Amino acid sequence: MSSSQRADLGRALCIITGASRGFGRTVAREMSRLVKPGSAMVLTARSGEDLRALQAELAESEAGRAGLKVQCVPADLAQMEGLLSVVSEAEAAFSEHIDHVILVNNAASLGDVSRFTRTFTEMAEVDSYLSLNVSSCLCLTARILQALPSRPGLQRSIINITSLCALQPFCSWALYCTGKAAREMMFRVLAAEEPDLRVLSYSPGPLDTEMQAVARSSTADPDLRKTFSDMFAAGQLLTCEASCAKLMKLLLEDSFTSGAHIDVFGPDHCVP
Ligand SMILES: NC(=O)c1ccc[n+]([C@@H]2O[C@H](COP(=O)([O-])OP(=O)(O)OC[C@H]3O[C@@H](n4cnc5c(N)ncnc54)[C@H](OP(=O)(O)O)[C@@H]3O)[C@@H](O)[C@H]2O)c1
Repeated sequence: MSSSQRADLGRALCIITGASRGFGRTVAREMSRLVKPGSAMVLTARSGEDLRALQAELAESEAGRAGLKVQCVPADLAQMEGLLSVVSEAEAAFSEHIDHVILVNNAASLGDVSRFTRTFTEMAEVDSYLSLNVSSCLCLTARILQALPSRPGLQRSIINITSLCALQPFCSWALYCTGKAAREMMFRVLAAEEPDLRVLSYSPGPLDTEMQAVARSSTADPDLRKTFSDMFAAGQLLTCEASCAKLMKLLLEDSFTSGAHIDVFGPDHCVP
């Protein structure tokens, strides 16, 4: 451990979207080990059953036995109603003892990667994709910032789970690349506007999750599809745990430039 790394994330309120599976579930597990007693978590996704299974697992963990409070919010983040239920649960879980609010905007969808850009002729389809992947992320972040305002001694960290697709075009991934690019710029603007926030866009690398399985089987572009299949066959996908360890290190060190895009492989990474 470097001398500039803190030992824990404080007495934190962690709000994690897309916590039912994949990377979000791992983030919840790893964060639970790094927060101080008296911390709380609000976990959200559509699958209530998977969230409750994670809640039960955390309750039996060392953190749970030390008093970590975990609330599940089964909600569709593409709907305003779902988003509001997350905000009210976060408000309820907040207390004067909390010294760190951490919002992890992790939930996302891949969109239809089986088609090329020229086929996206229906505004309703594109709007629906952007509603979950961009609008809900902006509005949830804004509402959390309003509901849990700045006060002395309170750190507020906003994490955006991003992708290389925010920076590079991937053929047949128009929706996903557009959403990730828009989302990332939105967080750069936020970081510029609010210097007291700690804003990070973390790119976790190719992860062995359901999203990656869909990418491997459904991507229309043959070269990209082959790249993903080859990576899977060669065992080159990262585990969620390995990538999450890098994110936790970044949060503990807390030395990133607010608004930065940081890739798990470092600044020179440029192929999927
Ligand atoms: N996998 C990769 O290779 C990779 C690479 C770079 C970046 N990323 C990014 O990493 C993050 C996590 O990806 P992942 O691979 O873990 O994906 P995943 O396995 O598909 O999980 C996505 C999560 O988002 C939730 N979600 C999806 N739609 C939702 C909705 N309408 N409302 C609420 N929650 C919703 C899902 O839960 P429910 O279905 O229960 O709602 C699930 O918990 C994403 O932001 C992704 O873009 C992934």
